[in-house]
Amino acid sequence: MNHTMREQYEAMRRHLQQAADQWGFVLSPEQDRAVERLSLLAAELAGTGGLFRRTHPSPRNLYLWGPVGRGKSWLVDTFFDGLPGGRKRRLHFHDFFRALHEGVAQAGRDREGGHRAVDRAVDELVGDCRLLVFDEFHAHDAGDAMLVARLFRTLLDRHVTLVTTSNYPPAGLMPDPLYHHLFEPTIQRIEERMDILDVSGPTDFRRLPPPAHGSRRFAEGACLTDAGDALRGEPGVEAPRPGEAVLVPAHHRALPARAARADLVWFGFDVLCEGTTAVPDYLALVERFGTLVLDGVPPLASCTPDGRRRFADLVDVCCDRDTRLFLIGADPLAGLPEDSGLLRDLDRTASRLAMLRRADLAR
Ligand SMILES: Nc1ncnc2c1ncn2[C@@H]1O[C@H](COP(=O)(O)OP(=O)(O)OP(=O)(O)O)[C@@H](O)[C@H]1O
Ligand SMILES: [Mg+2]
Repeated sequence: MNHTMREQYEAMRRHLQQAADQWGFVLSPEQDRAVERLSLLAAELAGTGGLFRRTHPSPRNLYLWGPVGRGKSWLVDTFFDGLPGGRKRRLHFHDFFRALHEGVAQAGRDREGGHRAVDRAVDELVGDCRLLVFDEFHAHDAGDAMLVARLFRTLLDRHVTLVTTSNYPPAGLMPDPLYHHLFEPTIQRIEERMDILDVSGPTDFRRLPPPAHGSRRFAEGACLTDAGDALRGEPGVEAPRPGEAVLVPAHHRALPARAARADLVWFGFDVLCEGTTAVPDYLALVERFGTLVLDGVPPLASCTPDGRRRFADLVDVCCDRDTRLFLIGADPLAGLPEDSGLLRDLDRTASRLAMLRRADLAR
């Protein structure tokens, strides 16, 4: 390691440790290993010209995986913030698909066809960056498989360094046996070209008491049984009056909200999760509003599979964008049969909702 690399290695270690101290976190042994690996990556990036220049070979890509709430996103986000230079990009899974679908739709309007349209959209997304952090990577259907395969090819061809987090080890990606084989070439590429780091400590940090210092906006939200009583004392969060109903712009359409006030928007579960909405709508909402209230929340066991999936996506988006989320109604996770597989599909949601619950307890 030359002098510049050594300096960058030390700087990244310090940066990650200081961030943990500031939040009052004690890093798990698995996180410590990730800190070491991410600091080495920072050094490797510095050794190949930093984020300003491109020299070959590019540093090894990193794939961090583990169960929910192990602090993977925190690690890669903190790493990303601490990396000097501008040619870096962070993408959340949902942003990636929104950007690609938009790009492909635009290409369609320009009468450009199929694969070329996807390639162009991927090109635009990657731009001239040298490092891409892709948080919460997964793939669930044939469409995802095709887009992700092309993204990987582009990144590897262009020597862009990739850092991803996922709840799945590479071989477990695309769990649906109907589609798994479509993804096998990509899995093989990941296993060959990325260093795989297992961050499977025993603790879901979202289930611990809140950290001593600092808090996330998302975690300031709550799961509440009743709007009137429960929201008293939350400044600016009063139940909507009938005259407040309004259409709120979402993705290429407007959705009927019960109220929209400055930084807050209020929806019924029936509109936002049982209506034909999708992730781009939620992204449009959280880009405009810092607080989202959802009332009429039923136990998820009693709603449609699409309603459950939309709710899970909404919680994911709000958590990623640090939107304050108030859920009013029944306990969403009540009555889910242990062995039905539903609980496993809602793993990510359950972990995120635990953060809202602990906020209730502290109230
Ligand atoms: N060592 C730690 N001690 C306490 N809290 C932590 C620690 N590391 C991270 N956290 C916090 O725990 C929460 C979960 O972390 P994070 O979102 O990074 O998990 P994740 O592994 O990405 O989970 P998922 O797989 O569900 O996306 C965050 O609020 C994060 O700030
Ligand atoms: Mg995460």
